[in-house]
Amino acid sequence: MSTPAEAKQAKIDVHWKEEPLIPPPQSFVRQAYAKDKSIYTRFSEENFPACYDEYANMLDWDQRWHTTLDTNNPPFWKWFVGGKLNASYNCVDRHLGKSGDKPAIIFVPEPEDEAYQKITYKELYAKVNEFALVLKEFAGLKTGDRVTFHLPMVAELPISMLACARLGIIHNEVFGGFSAKACADRVVDSKSHVLVTCDAYYRSGQLIDKKKDADGAVEEAAKMGATIDKVLVWRRHPGKYVSASPMVEGRDFFVDDLLKRYAGKTINPVSMDAEAPLFLMYTSGSTGKPKGVQHRTAGYLAYVAGTAKYVLDIHPDDMYWCLADIGWITGHSYIVYGPLSLGTTTIVYEGVPTYPDGGRCWRVAEKLGVNIFHTAPTTIRMLRKSAPDEPAKYNYRFKLMTTVGEPIEPESWKWYFEAIGKGEAVITDTWWQTESGGFLCSTVPGVIPMKPGSAGPGVPGIYPIIYDDDGNVVKPGEGAAGNVCIRNPWPGIMQTIWGDPDRFVKNYYERYCKDKNSKDWRDWPYLSGDGAVETADGYLRILGRIDDVIKVAGHRLGTKELENAALTTPEVGEAAAVAVVDELRGHMPLIFVSLKPGFEPSKELAERVRSNVAKALGPIARPKAVYIVSDLPKTRSGKIMRRILVSISEGRDYGDASTLANPEVVEKIKQQVEGTH
Ligand code: WTA
Repeated sequence: MSTPAEAKQAKIDVHWKEEPLIPPPQSFVRQAYAKDKSIYTRFSEENFPACYDEYANMLDWDQRWHTTLDTNNPPFWKWFVGGKLNASYNCVDRHLGKSGDKPAIIFVPEPEDEAYQKITYKELYAKVNEFALVLKEFAGLKTGDRVTFHLPMVAELPISMLACARLGIIHNEVFGGFSAKACADRVVDSKSHVLVTCDAYYRSGQLIDKKKDADGAVEEAAKMGATIDKVLVWRRHPGKYVSASPMVEGRDFFVDDLLKRYAGKTINPVSMDAEAPLFLMYTSGSTGKPKGVQHRTAGYLAYVAGTAKYVLDIHPDDMYWCLADIGWITGHSYIVYGPLSLGTTTIVYEGVPTYPDGGRCWRVAEKLGVNIFHTAPTTIRMLRKSAPDEPAKYNYRFKLMTTVGEPIEPESWKWYFEAIGKGEAVITDTWWQTESGGFLCSTVPGVIPMKPGSAGPGVPGIYPIIYDDDGNVVKPGEGAAGNVCIRNPWPGIMQTIWGDPDRFVKNYYERYCKDKNSKDWRDWPYLSGDGAVETADGYLRILGRIDDVIKVAGHRLGTKELENAALTTPEVGEAAAVAVVDELRGHMPLIFVSLKPGFEPSKELAERVRSNVAKALGPIARPKAVYIVSDLPKTRSGKIMRRILVSISEGRDYGDASTLANPEVVEKIKQQVEGTH
């Protein structure tokens, strides 16, 4: 159950004072899609599941569905059964008539002297078609095949996704900041034989070599017995190759060269079954191996379109900027599929929000007339700390701002509202997960007030419930935290875990299932894996993960993954990863290792473990510190006591250690950690 870091956090959170409700600015309400409570009535339980037809009706279908929700094989729900449609058609083709000359995507390069690239819907249509032809005719990919992307924040990423969607090829994007090894793991698990990457991209003023990771991924995949036949390399500057790693004859191909063969050609979108998988997105869970969250075509697209409309209030003429990375679910749902299905303009920013200075975001916002801004608490904290006076210097106007990815403390929330939003923008604090496809809790911004630090009630059509460990309901207003579950299925929920349906059932449904033989969805609450408290007015404050997952700057990392990464250093015998609170990133990993016999601790070795972890998983995983200890505290059955390590790293009393197999190590570790503080 809950690790003490979170338990402690939970306690603090529960004792936070209740924040006042803040009504949405009238200027927002006047123009909002939803301005009265009727949306909650339409999506009330009485109207479930038919209420979701409203979202499905926002899409264009080749064939209408006959059954909104099929519960015959719980908990493998099926949505909009019998329907056929194409996601790429819905995000591109159908907007050509009305919005063909409007930018669909604006790519903002990190270097400030480089021009923005505006890609109209017509241009996007051409690019998606041409790359789809490359995938089909050059790479030989067919409907149902998987293709892995290891792409950073460039416009070619959404283009590649939509090209796959056009043909029913399942895309599997690996966050660009992840290592070659992490990429290879996902290639192998998804059984893909084609890797799409690029030569380089800019980040924090550096041109980062990306192609070298593809070489590493091919090599690592080979060690696991898998072959990557083709590596398709987009070039950051077409025609000019800037990576230091050589192209491998017969394996690596420049996409811009291949595209020339298909210039001006089109290919019809494949009419896909509503339930056909659209993409995979790997995410960390409580066991070592990342799991391939599999999302379906129709339910997912309908859900992100509907929530982008009502929660983000995206109108076709808005200028929408989400700073998340498309390598995470937020980018898939709310940079690519949601906004494009609504026919709006979505911005893809290549770099870091503070490059070259803390005014960057506001210059982009001013220049492009951004009116919806979407980011994570870690960015808000960073901007607040490093450049608090910058927003006031620029002339932009946001109508809506979103926060996502981790709990936001009320102080940061208020600064976001006052300084970045200038008191004029409504805020939606959207709580959800890779697995949920789209939002679970948030206010509908024109309808109910905001509350700093609380995501809000379930979004329309989502009915949350909080259970304690014994399965009793924790009631709203009780002041206690528990495991937040969703009572009902929704169209955005993942279909399954790729290749591991048992894990899907076990992880998300087993715990609170009321009757395994029941085909009634009411017997199958979905376990989110987060702790939460609900106030009497039905607002949920999310406290964080209850499983072994650490959220670093909003990104999920498994403790097991971190420990495995530490063990790649040959001298390391055992490793334990814990989360420590970090002012900017929310949490950071801290790793304790003991060495194999015959090795001596040294600063150099600790530093090597640190960089090996970053090498194995990617720079976001770099531990705050690595401590080499004589032994890890263990129970008599040999289980590592992370709880004690957490208490020590937070400078708290570690409690009773006498039942341990090796109580003597605890005090030594404590002195060691204190010595370095
Ligand atoms: C956390 C990101 C508090 C939560 C969309 C969840 C949040 C995990 C919020 C999923 C929020 C996300 N307030 N916590 N508004 N949004 N989380 O899969 O712990 O990368 O379970 O999806 O992020 O992370 P994931």
